[in-house]
Amino acid sequence: MERKWWHDKVAYQIYPKSFLDTNGDGIGDLRGIISKLDYLKELGIDIIWLSPIYQSPFVDQGYDISDYYSIASEFGTMEEFDELLAEAKKRGMYIIMDLVINHCSDKHEWFQKALADPEGEYADYFYFRKGKNGNPPSNYRSYFGGSCWEPVPGTDKYYLHMFAKEQPDLNWENPKLKQEIYNMINWWLEKGLAGFRIDAIINIKKNLEFPDFEPDGPDGMAGCWKMVESTEGVGELLEELKEHTFKKYDAFTVAEVFNMKEGELPQFIGENGHFSTIFDFSAHCLSDGEHGWYDAPEMEFKKWRETVINSQLEVQKTGFEANIIENHDEPRGVSRFLPEYARTPAGTKMLGTVSLLLRGIPFIYQGQEIGMQNAVWESIEEYDDISTKDQYHIAREAGLSNEEALKVCGKMSRDNARTPVQWSNQENAGFTTGTPWLKVNSNYTAINVESQEAQPDSVLNYYRKLTALRKSEEYKEVFTYGEFVPEYEATESVMAYYRVDDEKRMLIAANFGKTPVKLELKYPVKRVLLSNQEETSAGSGQKPEHVLELESCEVIVLECE
Ligand code: GLC
Ligand code: CA
Repeated sequence: MERKWWHDKVAYQIYPKSFLDTNGDGIGDLRGIISKLDYLKELGIDIIWLSPIYQSPFVDQGYDISDYYSIASEFGTMEEFDELLAEAKKRGMYIIMDLVINHCSDKHEWFQKALADPEGEYADYFYFRKGKNGNPPSNYRSYFGGSCWEPVPGTDKYYLHMFAKEQPDLNWENPKLKQEIYNMINWWLEKGLAGFRIDAIINIKKNLEFPDFEPDGPDGMAGCWKMVESTEGVGELLEELKEHTFKKYDAFTVAEVFNMKEGELPQFIGENGHFSTIFDFSAHCLSDGEHGWYDAPEMEFKKWRETVINSQLEVQKTGFEANIIENHDEPRGVSRFLPEYARTPAGTKMLGTVSLLLRGIPFIYQGQEIGMQNAVWESIEEYDDISTKDQYHIAREAGLSNEEALKVCGKMSRDNARTPVQWSNQENAGFTTGTPWLKVNSNYTAINVESQEAQPDSVLNYYRKLTALRKSEEYKEVFTYGEFVPEYEATESVMAYYRVDDEKRMLIAANFGKTPVKLELKYPVKRVLLSNQEETSAGSGQKPEHVLELESCEVIVLECE
């Protein structure tokens, strides 16, 4: 396999609005990010992904872009962005931005021109279609609820939007539109960007017949993802995109891809794939409900373990995926993947270890490194997220009470990940001197960066050790390229695997259970490299001999013969 510059890197996602506010308007900003570059460097971060910072009406928090060439004034200026690039470069770090090109904002000049002249050139930048028998062109339900089709005022046409109605889908069949997008991407890469995280990218291919699907809900509509899943030909569009842009710059690209077809992985992330990598969402998809968040299945340890293992085994035949436990669209990993008794510093470290040492590119989401958790939400008004509001509504329609629907949202809401980063135990967790745009999690006095800086055994200091181990001269090779081999899969509560190459054999073993376990060691232990416990025999640096004993929520990283 050809080695790439990004294979051995550790990435970090910043959700700028909630990262750090430096001017008291309650909104995180570029100055805040610049001021924390040293903090990120010390955490072992190489690549920083910024969720969208382009000009936007923020209907979907920046995933609705009204000008691809300017920075939202809420976040700062283009000069500050250039400063961020330069400061990152000085520290040997790379910046990647979010690339949202399936749709733009309805306030984008293209869409405004299209509305002004629905027969004109710009209408063809979008999907303007006539209805059928007094209905919209098809029965698709958008990801955020309601029809995917919105009337074009003053005409008998509709425009397509798979997300909010303020996010019209761009017409990738139009060569002019494609060229505009390529130019824009290259403009950013010329500036010195290292690449992109690419939003909802397989949605760009539409079935131009827009066939109806069997209704799958009481609204008589069908999820629009069914059209995405059943459409052929996205590969050509993605190849063309790569050839005109990323390839020339050796850019790092990480795509958000759901609904991939069987057997397509090599085309996406193989040797000459469309992208450098894609996110592994397989564990997250375990909580996809049939109708929404309200019927989402409970997370079960064994299913989770099996899913992670199967995904690792499959992906390593082909390339690398990007591993996450959470992002800006998902609840916090600690609240989701750990049982209640494990939502402690020890459990948090355990989950982090198991995730960061998998084969692939680790992406740490802001606040994960201190073990941030889901917030407690008292009413639907406290939420900002468009998707949470929709899911609350779906739950109520399905007959859940207000309390029950709130509970569902509390578990699954995207706002759980979007509460401000908890920097200190000062007012508003040190995030802002003003009023935060979204409430601060009330547990900030217990969980915050400042207090964890001071404790040698804090989650934060543990994450630093973890990234340092992964990137260390001695173990970098095996943690980057070493094969993933699962172990102790028959146990009730242990998630364990080896990372192996010709030189080394590492064992990562974690006990997610409530009670201690004993595991028979298959290979003699050479060294104990990391543990989240001070007291066990292994944790104190003593090598276990034949039997490895793991307390509840204990994790250990061993080098074996
Ligand atoms: C992606 C983003 C999400 C956004 C959606 C529409 O899934 O991660 O935040 O709402 O695309 O752009
Ligand atoms: Ca600000």
